[in-house]
Amino acid sequence: MTEAILLVGGKGTRLRPLTVHTPKPMVPAAGVPFLTHQLARARAAGIEHIVLATSYLAEVFEPYFGDGSALGLHLEYVTEEEPLGTGGAIRNVAARLHSAPGDPVLIFNGDILTGLDIPALVDTHRTSGADVSLHLTRVEDPRAFGLVPTDDTGRVTAFLEKPQTPEEIVTDQVNAGAYVFNRSVIDTIPAGRPVSVERETFPGLLADGAHLQGMVDSTYWLDLGTPQAFVRGSADLVLGRAPSPAVPGRRGDRLVLETAEVAPDAKLTGGTVVGRGAVVGAGARIDGSAVLDGAVIEPGARIRDSLIGAGARIGARTVLDGAVIGDGARIGADNELRDGIRIWCGAGIPDGAVRFSSDQ
Ligand code: GDD
Ligand code: MG
Repeated sequence: MTEAILLVGGKGTRLRPLTVHTPKPMVPAAGVPFLTHQLARARAAGIEHIVLATSYLAEVFEPYFGDGSALGLHLEYVTEEEPLGTGGAIRNVAARLHSAPGDPVLIFNGDILTGLDIPALVDTHRTSGADVSLHLTRVEDPRAFGLVPTDDTGRVTAFLEKPQTPEEIVTDQVNAGAYVFNRSVIDTIPAGRPVSVERETFPGLLADGAHLQGMVDSTYWLDLGTPQAFVRGSADLVLGRAPSPAVPGRRGDRLVLETAEVAPDAKLTGGTVVGRGAVVGAGARIDGSAVLDGAVIEPGARIRDSLIGAGARIGARTVLDGAVIGDGARIGADNELRDGIRIWCGAGIPDGAVRFSSDQ
């Protein structure tokens, strides 16, 4: 049986300011909590047992996913008292694994949307005989990631987390946040204290001469660390660019969930999702955005690349472009909110209060 550890803890797991109660993995992407996509993809790849390593707001996972049987999985939950870091979290769940010392165990960062061929990563691991194998992806700017140069056989030669200087940036290959570990390697991570797998475990293994193997590919890959990335990911799931067996409904330009009410002349495009009980008024246009459950979009609003929190209200003719509107916030009519603005949960903006363009 193949098993996996899913890392869903740490400090920055709320999608601030969208919600104060929901950790990021539970914020809906294309109609279901984001984590569902990762779980469903793992199941489709033949993984049956998954341990969720959680810390912050851990109590919301189990009531929703339960024992995992609805997804055909056996799910277990382990909560850290204090965040143990990525390596500490992995070590902390070792006792729950069924694998024997030489068996491969999959490990996934919990905030990644990807088309990774999971069986191919396991194959790479087997055929290379590595201690650890890593999925690598190419990015334009590696500074927010773990830099992973490899030799011409794909063997990892270094691991540098969050490289900053031009001298450090020797490749465009970065850690994509999916690994195969031999079970025995997990047991060598020190227990009972915070450990960063990126800053301590990987560099330490390389210094000790361990074999780390990289698998670079160009499949869909997105870290959902920012609200903008989250909106993009949700739209790509709806459009079918990001593969997931958990999207409820057909792939296409829009996903309207049951009980949502959309006026016949409203235009929904670019992978827009409209959540349960949400209302979209006459003449509204929404492109590439996520409108969460119970939100109300009044007539004539123009919304692009934005995230509208649950129960939020967007006034008539208001323009949103690249905006994040927190749960329950109230945006009055005739406002214009652009590029990176974040409105906190429950906050209010009166009618005609904010503009970016001229008054014409
Ligand atoms: N249980 C637990 N406990 N999980 C944690 C902890 C912790 O203390 N700290 C982080 N995590 C989880 C996060 O929830 C996330 O799913 C994953 O580990 C990675 O943490 P992030 O905080 O998102 O790290 P990052 O995005 O800056 O960098 C990581 O991901 C990049 C790819 O997106 C690193 O692994 C980089 O090397 C990598 O390139
Ligand atoms: Mg991340």
